[in-house]
Amino acid sequence: MNICAVILAAGLGTRMKSKYSKVLFDVAGEPMISHVIRAARKIGPSKIIAVVGHSKELVVECVKKSHADYSGFEFVTQSEQKGTGHAVMQAREALAASGGGVTFVLCGDTPLLTPELFQNLLAAHTGGDFAATVLTTTVADPKGYGRIVRGASGGVKAIVEERDADAETKRIAEINTGVYAFSTEKLIDALSMLDNDNDQHEYYLTDTVKIFNSLGLSVAACHEVDSSLMMGINNRFELSAANRIMRSHINKRHMIAGVTIVDPDSTYIDACVEIENDVTIYPGTYLHGGTKIATGAKIGPMTYVVDSIVAENAKIFHSVVENSEIGRDASVGPYSHLRPQTKLCDRVNIGNYVEVKKSLIGEGSKANHLTYIGDAEIGTGCNIGAGTITCNYDGVNKHKTVIGSGAFIGSNTSLVAPVEIGEGALVAAGSVVNKSVPAGALAIARSPLCIKEGYVKKRTVKKAEKNNTTTGA
Ligand code: UD1
Ligand code: CA
Repeated sequence: MNICAVILAAGLGTRMKSKYSKVLFDVAGEPMISHVIRAARKIGPSKIIAVVGHSKELVVECVKKSHADYSGFEFVTQSEQKGTGHAVMQAREALAASGGGVTFVLCGDTPLLTPELFQNLLAAHTGGDFAATVLTTTVADPKGYGRIVRGASGGVKAIVEERDADAETKRIAEINTGVYAFSTEKLIDALSMLDNDNDQHEYYLTDTVKIFNSLGLSVAACHEVDSSLMMGINNRFELSAANRIMRSHINKRHMIAGVTIVDPDSTYIDACVEIENDVTIYPGTYLHGGTKIATGAKIGPMTYVVDSIVAENAKIFHSVVENSEIGRDASVGPYSHLRPQTKLCDRVNIGNYVEVKKSLIGEGSKANHLTYIGDAEIGTGCNIGAGTITCNYDGVNKHKTVIGSGAFIGSNTSLVAPVEIGEGALVAAGSVVNKSVPAGALAIARSPLCIKEGYVKKRTVKKAEKNNTTTGA
């Protein structure tokens, strides 16, 4: 059966108190609308029509970016936001050309919806002769939602918005989740019959239910028990609640798949992060974006990893890692910062207070303390002493440092780039190296140490004499 999905994302979301469209707000590291689209794609729609308006360019860009592998998008513009029904009217032509079948209408602000909910809705809708089927749930506090008014036979007679509801209707706890399956053809007909005769003077999509009933067509409800997955986000308090719910689902999924999460309440993992089994994640850890963690790795506590690849048995402790690759059995931290385009090969150690940027560090090399490595290419088995700095920036341009395998860089060395240290070379502690050093050579740049025998004693005597004169003794 041909399926189409319409996603409503033109509203600003006034209650977010933001200049940005609410569908762009992140839940578990991804804009709400991307989550809705991901779930919708699982029902195999031939096309997804997104209705955009507020922050239109940003919304279109965000949708295309997060679903670059899907070519079925069509965007229609709703320049003035005159209600959810008016939003769907903008998709009328695209729907008419879609080849009939079933149209799902979803909102861009319900990020917790799952593909299973859509499957259940589709099964309920195709299980009888219905013009539409509404996904509903029952909540303790229905305030703000449209209420489901059922007929004697159990069908849906009307959906009444909070602000248009009388006291009795307000007591109905079954609510409209804002997700519907429509017969495409019947939806197109009903759209032309909508009016804006309500408290907000908007065209409500929910009024299609009344229209169908008046035409003698039936509307079904697909009632789901777990209302937490259907929440619509209208303000930042609800946004935090949605984040908490999604986070607990994500953490649970990883734990069931064999990942140890020591304290799920303080572990923040984005929806797309991939983690193999036997990884241990300690408290206070954030794993973002497209991060991938291989088996046996230990991450945290207090660690932030974004868009990075961590190989088997690597350890990251109290550190920040951005757009980097960490090899097998490598160790990072405590208090290290790997900035974008860093690649640590297997068994590399990056230790206390070390910053690495856009550098390749070869197998088994170590930089254990207080070092900055930027724009460098370091061979295998090198030792980078405490306080080594690659001076990669001359105030205008960035330059490269190349260090050959087996080189030993003594503590407190400044490597003034562009510079090359040959294989196995030795740089003495405290040197400023501004010329390349051949393989196997010693480079030493130090002012000679001067020793003055007995100096301390002489100085003490002088100091005592001075004190005597000033106190007048
Ligand atoms: C809507 C439903 C309500 C339901 C609730 C579920 C209507 C009239 N009401 O109310 O029954 O319980 O969702 O969360 O449909 N949008 C547009 N253009 C517009 C107006 C809205 O694209 O002109 C989009 C918004 O960007 C949003 C979605 O539609 O993604 C829902 O709009 P919102 O204003 O949040 O509707 P609710 O008042 O929550
Ligand atoms: Ca809403």
